Amino acid sequence: MTRTVHGLLLAAASTLAVSGGAHAQGVEISISCGAVGLELTLCQEGANAWAEETGNTVQVVSTPNSSTDRLALYQQILSAQGGDIDVYQIDVIWPGILGSHFVDLAPHIEQETIDQHFDAIIQNNTIDGELKAMPWFTDAGILYYRSDLLEEYGLEVPETWAELTNAAQTIMEGEREGGNDRFWGYVWQGRAYEGLTCNALEWIDSFGGGTIVADDGSITVNNPAAVAAVDLAASWVGTISPTGVLNYDEEGARGVFQSGNAAFMRNWPYAWALAQSDDSPVKGKVGVAVLPRGEAEGGKHTGTLGGWQLAVSNYSDNQEEAIDLVRYLTSYEEQKRRAIEGSYNPTIEALYEDEEVLEAVPFFGSLKDTFVNAVARPSRIAGDRYNEVSSAFWNAVHSTLSGSGDAAANLDALETELIRLSRGGRW
Ligand code: GLC
Repeated sequence: MTRTVHGLLLAAASTLAVSGGAHAQGVEISISCGAVGLELTLCQEGANAWAEETGNTVQVVSTPNSSTDRLALYQQILSAQGGDIDVYQIDVIWPGILGSHFVDLAPHIEQETIDQHFDAIIQNNTIDGELKAMPWFTDAGILYYRSDLLEEYGLEVPETWAELTNAAQTIMEGEREGGNDRFWGYVWQGRAYEGLTCNALEWIDSFGGGTIVADDGSITVNNPAAVAAVDLAASWVGTISPTGVLNYDEEGARGVFQSGNAAFMRNWPYAWALAQSDDSPVKGKVGVAVLPRGEAEGGKHTGTLGGWQLAVSNYSDNQEEAIDLVRYLTSYEEQKRRAIEGSYNPTIEALYEDEEVLEAVPFFGSLKDTFVNAVARPSRIAGDRYNEVSSAFWNAVHSTLSGSGDAAANLDALETELIRLSRGGRW
């Protein structure tokens, strides 16, 4: 059963009146899942399999696609201490923001099982010594390209952003001359939300311009490499990227690319399974590579670290069953199924050597370093103020992309704002 967000909010409003009723078996567990691409279907299938195995029932609650909107919804429900949702799918950047509402899973999940997962993600999910969530899938930004068109135009997979800009321009001009006036060079996520923070961190880090806030808490975003990176991205809007990119999220970009109307796309790995599905117009014509690097000294290939975890609410009446569902969904077998069917990156390292996984998603092998070394957003240092940091950052970038001020002016103002927010870098 899938409940809508609207229904959920109504339920959240009446939450405080709901009382216990936990039984040892045959309980109903509610889990919030994302609905980007195949997410909801895969979550529903996994949850149903657990329900069948245990004799419980599961209600899957679909949440907004935008990570930013989802956070606002969760904060609303959790701050009312609502027990409507037992298991929360949470973003890799949220343990510091939401962790106080979640059960410490470490005493309930075997150490051997925890040790199967990438240690960096376990550390990320550990707040004050408590494991607030189990890793479910990891993410990193990657470059999708039309292999057929690169071949047709005699182009290589771009190594640098300048090469990408030129290749996108060449293919776009050619395709438009050939009659497709809706064809674009490069699509990505330019809307003012968390996804833009991910894209812009990639530009800046790939130019050697740091990570907005350094690990020691100092504000580093106002530097020449970062300015050059954001100005370059602004130059794409209305040239190789449609102005509509300023409102694209992941699915917006995928819609254009998968319908055959773009040469390149920045997205997460989930887009692979969909681009390769039987009804995809670009099936068999897509390649995946690491994102380009900046040309100047210090430039490097990089991708932003993303990913989702499963957490159990402190306010759940059925914590034992909820923990069991988390154990099931984050297991080797379930992560393997999700990797093969939906190209969701496992957080269990051994799955990167599983032949069936590598056959379904070859780049899990070839780009493993990109996933392991992905650049983290400054969520650990910013803690519960991360969302304010990120929204100040994406707004400064979005203004620049929209032509309201250049990167030098906007990143300078951002620096002042972040210094204030961090109380002088002391957080
Ligand atoms: C993906 C990532 C997540 C990120 C979001 C931004 O879902 O896994 O970490 O915050 O995209 O749109």
